[in-house]
Amino acid sequence: MEVTLKVFRYNPEVDKKWHYDTYTLEADPTDRVLDLLERIKGETDGALTFRRSCAHGVCGSDAMRINGVNRLACKTLVKDIGNKITVDPILGLRVIKDMLVDMTPFFDNYKRVLPYFINNTPTPADGKERHQTPEQRARFDDTTKCILCACCTTSCPSFWASDQYLGPAALVAAHRFIFDSRDEGAAERLEVVSETDGLARCHTAYNCTIACPREIQVTKAIGELKMLTVTGKLE
Ligand code: SF4
Ligand code: FES
Repeated sequence: MEVTLKVFRYNPEVDKKWHYDTYTLEADPTDRVLDLLERIKGETDGALTFRRSCAHGVCGSDAMRINGVNRLACKTLVKDIGNKITVDPILGLRVIKDMLVDMTPFFDNYKRVLPYFINNTPTPADGKERHQTPEQRARFDDTTKCILCACCTTSCPSFWASDQYLGPAALVAAHRFIFDSRDEGAAERLEVVSETDGLARCHTAYNCTIACPREIQVTKAIGELKMLTVTGKLE
């Protein structure tokens, strides 16, 4: 099939303003948008700039707006979106070049929630692992699936308004550790998510849940954190 691909272009070294370049190419219905971008880069315009690494939906590096929706280019098939495709960078982050955005505010917010295991109690004397029941493990299973692609955070109107807002991805990371029965950093993290730029800025738009390529129930996780700040009960 013939596909028309409109691609956002901006090179601050030569462009005063962004524009679209349009490419027409032959594609199979099972080609992914990433395949098309790589063909353009390899065969037509080597300057076309975008992030990618695994090409299999694991690393989270090729989030972009495809036909107006945040998606991973490596998981978006031509047959699912039709033969007229528009590709833009994700919103709310400074564009460095083409689809390449400055992820610094996103990762700064992520770091604020202490996204790592905290436990200062010595491991059991027998040297065994810290035990957890299947039910305790299931409590935070959904939020372990995050690949930090930023599809959620950059589809959130509160993040567009201020990149100081922690954003859904950072809150998902907070949820992952706060609800882990082995972790001892809940109080510290709850302090962070309760700050002005934390949970209070979530207005339950649901964009995050819709955007997540891992189908994480992002809004539900944020709701559980909100509930926890009210009840104080880690259940
Ligand atoms: Fe991406 Fe989903 Fe993680 Fe958000 S919660 S960063 S959309 S994987
Ligand atoms: Fe790794 Fe798409 S390139 S998720």
